[in-house]
Amino acid sequence: MGSLHVIRGAPKAAVIGGGFIGPVHVEALRRLGIEVRGLLGSSAERAKPLADRLGIPRVYRDFDDLLGDSTVEAVHVASPNAAHFEQAQRVLDSGRHVVCEKPLAVSPAETAALTELAGSRPAQASAVNYNVRFYPLCHEMRSRIRRGDIGRVLSVTGSYTQDWLLYPQDYNWRVEADGGTNLRAVADIGTHWMDLAQFVVGQPIRQVCADLATFHPERQKPVGPSDTFSGGVGAKESHCVPISTEDHAAVLLRFSDQARGSFHVSQVTAGRKNRVILEVAGTDGSFAWNSESPNQLWIGSRRGPNQLLERDPALLTPEAAALGDYPGGHAEGFPDTFKQVFRAVYQWIADGGAGPRAYPTFEDGDREVRLCEAIARSAREQRWIEVIERA
Ligand SMILES: NC(=O)c1ccc[n+]([C@@H]2O[C@H](COP(=O)([O-])OP(=O)(O)OC[C@H]3O[C@@H](n4cnc5c(N)ncnc54)[C@H](O)[C@@H]3O)[C@@H](O)[C@H]2O)c1
Repeated sequence: MGSLHVIRGAPKAAVIGGGFIGPVHVEALRRLGIEVRGLLGSSAERAKPLADRLGIPRVYRDFDDLLGDSTVEAVHVASPNAAHFEQAQRVLDSGRHVVCEKPLAVSPAETAALTELAGSRPAQASAVNYNVRFYPLCHEMRSRIRRGDIGRVLSVTGSYTQDWLLYPQDYNWRVEADGGTNLRAVADIGTHWMDLAQFVVGQPIRQVCADLATFHPERQKPVGPSDTFSGGVGAKESHCVPISTEDHAAVLLRFSDQARGSFHVSQVTAGRKNRVILEVAGTDGSFAWNSESPNQLWIGSRRGPNQLLERDPALLTPEAAALGDYPGGHAEGFPDTFKQVFRAVYQWIADGGAGPRAYPTFEDGDREVRLCEAIARSAREQRWIEVIERA
């Protein structure tokens, strides 16, 4: 079992973005004993009440003000996707560590530039917050597949479904085209699923064949900002705008080592609040995991009874056990995955950047955006598309 502990010698942090996920970063950092020095929002006026509520001592006027804070050595980018590129670039250029929310940026050109920059600064941490793989039982599937428990992987299937954009009155910055891949459900939640699938089976996706659907070609855009997961419902004034980003996607996959796969993503599936499903079938067994009951792993068998493994560090491989800080039967969930990603990042920093990077890297973030590009092209051209590999 992992143990509850703070990270000694960890740098102090600042967080960019005070919407849904910025405060989740703040809470997770504090659980690791990492001091959050300041918050940058879209304006100081909007960020101040949140900073007061969370007890963050400083609100930055703008990005230059943040970069001028010499007490901060690590910056978490939790702003809308279109802002990631410039913000992550400036953080790295300033010599600081960066933890960027997914997707890393909106186009492969941007993620290529960021990956190159990160590569030229090997002493700085550069992480992308693909937190789903940090559920202990997701690491458990990976370890058992590596150990050969289910033989050769044949298929990788699943979905990521939500309902918060079900109605045409539901609105968020995510529904607007980003000027890059211009994908929404795929870039927002599909990339979580693809990161998880590739991490668990240890094989990259090489080819995709996609079908996208925009069920609401028009939505009601509220006047003023609309909170994530509020769907804009309740806004007093709104106007009708055309929408081109997808509400739903279904994608066929070919992995590098012959495994086949498919997944669908939807932000318009009534009743599904935030459900990730992954099923891996091998020549000698299967695994199935569902984020709505993240502490259970189904293990399928042809020759004997199936099993339901309850997350208990005593029963897990060392890699997975290290991600659970509580004994079996004491549920761990979404906020714990953030803590575990950040622990991997800040422990790497505290160890002097010497060891392997146990966190999702900019290379991982770049792969996800290249996958998005291939999916968008496949849907446009109605055919299989090869994912472009970097030299
Ligand atoms: N890993 C996860 O599980 C997860 C979950 C949700 C969101 N995210 C990612 O986090 C990011 C933010 O998503 P969210 O749901 O919190 O969005 P949000 O709209 O709820 O919050 C974004 C915040 O950023 C602020 N902002 C806007 N432009 C800014 C700028 N240029 N500089 C600084 N702040 C700015 C907004 O005022 C808002 O407070 C997205 O990239 C999203 O994909 C990740």
